[in-house]
Amino acid sequence: MRTRPLKVALLGCGVVGSEVARIMTTHADDLTQRIGAPVELAGVAVRRPSKIREGIDPALITTDATALLKRGDIDIAIEVIGGIEPARTLITTAFEHGISVVSANKALLAQDGAALHAAAEQHGRDLYYEAAVAGAIPLVRPMRESLAGDKINRVMGIVNGTTNFILDKMDSTGAGYQEALDEATALGYAEADPTADVEGYDAAAKAAILAGIAFHTRVRLDDVYREGMTEVSAADFASAKRMGCTIKLLAILERAADGESVTARVHPAMIPLSHPLASVREAYNAVFVEAEAAGRLMFYGPGAGGAPTASAVLGDLVAVARNKLAEATGPGESAYTQLPVSPMGDVVTRYHISLDVADKPGVLAQVATTFAEHGVSIDTVRQQGKDGEASLVVVTHRAADAALSGTVEALRKLDTVRGVASIMRVEGE
Ligand code: HSE
Repeated sequence: MRTRPLKVALLGCGVVGSEVARIMTTHADDLTQRIGAPVELAGVAVRRPSKIREGIDPALITTDATALLKRGDIDIAIEVIGGIEPARTLITTAFEHGISVVSANKALLAQDGAALHAAAEQHGRDLYYEAAVAGAIPLVRPMRESLAGDKINRVMGIVNGTTNFILDKMDSTGAGYQEALDEATALGYAEADPTADVEGYDAAAKAAILAGIAFHTRVRLDDVYREGMTEVSAADFASAKRMGCTIKLLAILERAADGESVTARVHPAMIPLSHPLASVREAYNAVFVEAEAAGRLMFYGPGAGGAPTASAVLGDLVAVARNKLAEATGPGESAYTQLPVSPMGDVVTRYHISLDVADKPGVLAQVATTFAEHGVSIDTVRQQGKDGEASLVVVTHRAADAALSGTVEALRKLDTVRGVASIMRVEGE
């Protein structure tokens, strides 16, 4: 056992950082045994030094993160600042000074993962980021390491807890979106500005990271098709229930059948109640991975919060510290397949379309003809009439997204179609 400690710089001390510091202190003896050397919190870089941080020696606090990384004795940096800058520059500075990095920064990894991996490799250091996707759930490491000998063909998951909480409330209480969002805000699940969560940006960043790992290719945030869940209505849930489904905001990553390309998307979708993801309640996350040899795997647990996210950070800290002692590095970026990311129009799935139409002879035939003209086959049709108007719900067989978009465009032009109330994909069947 080495007695000289490995020195750790903590960059950021908010909800996650303070939990990381707490666990490092309270579990110091266990961490020492597991790593084979003590790990010492050698500096904590913060923006507001005057804030009281219980359990952290005030002498460790600094506002100069760069100086902390450059002072010459730091072995590992933990970046829990979030966002693009200054996190990107600090991580690069860490590598340049021979420091390995553990990061929880999904936005940065989704945007600049390739450059950061290259910098880590150039300087012979580690970049670990289990906490960037789905909080406490071990997912990045199982996909990067445990499944490295298999071939992952599909990943489908709930990777945002805030939106899952809102959708679960809508499902279980019949509440509308705004009412459910207000409750999520009051309970501290949703932030004051919930845009990143409800518009799917947070999930899209996680989808980009997972797609790159799953398919050994580069998938950037801009490659991920994204639709938020603010338009999901109580009527959509009622319709989903009639079909034996619920609605989830899903991240779906697929390898094309010919293996020559991949797709990555985030959007709300109906899934059957019998699907394992349908029973993921409240703010939990779950990710369903389909691999050629392993079959179907499901990873489930808390996807956010200080302590759960710190658990993932600490797991990475132990791994990186062990690598450091062994004078080795863990796996770097694996992007050798260089598969292109296909546009959303190429995605093939089923659709639930709700139309407001005139209730008169020939309307149903006109609507059905429009689907047929675009090569979209109808599975079921349900109509409910009232005072000369009707609500028409069409569920299709599998069709290309581009064909469905063309159908909907043509439907909107029909005089008898008063409006397209909602379009939702149907997944997981
Ligand atoms: N805001 C995210 C969520 C947690 O609601 O899941 C951090 O990624």
